[in-house]
Amino acid sequence: MRNKVTKAVFPVAGLGTRFLPATKAVPKEVLTLVDRPLIQYAIDEAREAGITEFIFVTSRGKSALEDYFDRAPELEMSLKSKNKTELLDIYNQTCMDSGAIAYVRQNQALGLGHAVWCARHLIGDEPFAVLLPDDVIAADKPCLKQMLEAYEETGGNMVAAMEVPEDKASSYGVLDVPTGMSPVLPVRGMVEKPKPGTAPSNLAVIGRYVLSPDVLKSLDNQTTGAGGEIQLTDAIAAQIEAKNNVYGYRFQGQRFDCGSKAGFLQATISFGLSRADLREELEDYIYDMMAMRQAAE
Ligand code: UTP
Repeated sequence: MRNKVTKAVFPVAGLGTRFLPATKAVPKEVLTLVDRPLIQYAIDEAREAGITEFIFVTSRGKSALEDYFDRAPELEMSLKSKNKTELLDIYNQTCMDSGAIAYVRQNQALGLGHAVWCARHLIGDEPFAVLLPDDVIAADKPCLKQMLEAYEETGGNMVAAMEVPEDKASSYGVLDVPTGMSPVLPVRGMVEKPKPGTAPSNLAVIGRYVLSPDVLKSLDNQTTGAGGEIQLTDAIAAQIEAKNNVYGYRFQGQRFDCGSKAGFLQATISFGLSRADLREELEDYIYDMMAMRQAAE
């Protein structure tokens, strides 16, 4: 019987420079998608996949993120006294039990691999999940849940993968995998941010991982890779050579890159349109705007 995956790491120590000036004062992970901060979507996905221990890798200036999951006694009392039960339900979903979240600091943004390594003592010697909150995934069955079900069969290490256009591959970690439509693909190699024209496939890694503690041992070497950063991709790729136990998982769902402005705006429209309380008004606005644009052309 495989170890059940109960711990998840949320690396949130990046500088978020693509959202400057907002991120000068507000952590990227608390920017709001419709009415919830990005981090809430990631936490909900992890909870639905059975995660019970949440490890945040944070940095200077992220206190808003830490406060967000605490109880807010004044707000709670006010909602109770006014009998606002629906809002109380929403509020309660944001409060995490004491001790469920642990915070470790990354005192320099040396890369995603380094951020995950900072959590090594809290992870210990067991498999763990990693979720990047700026990848928001709309799916009937949450992406991490899909992956953990597949991981029950494979063990090892698993990365979420999706097809990307050739000209975008150089922004991602890209998988060398056999061709075929199977959701689970054995990985022969991984390249972080390949130079244009050199990507081994069109399957890119996105921000969901299920990893073995061996990856942390590779990260002990602190080797820098693409962009001068300590890359998680390189530490996972080392497992291909050592144990040949890395799998790509082609998930069902739509991923939004909320780390980029265009992706965040697309997510806002898509999530807005999927909400019964907003759909009609938003649709009307989009139709009117398109009609005005066409008339002006
Ligand atoms: P990004 O590559 O999006 O970097 O990190 P960033 O700093 O957040 O944003 P930009 O590119 O400057 O706009 C992907 C994920 O890895 C985390 C980030 O917080 C984000 O969740 N990360 C990245 C760290 O925790 N530490 C790092 O050193 C780098």
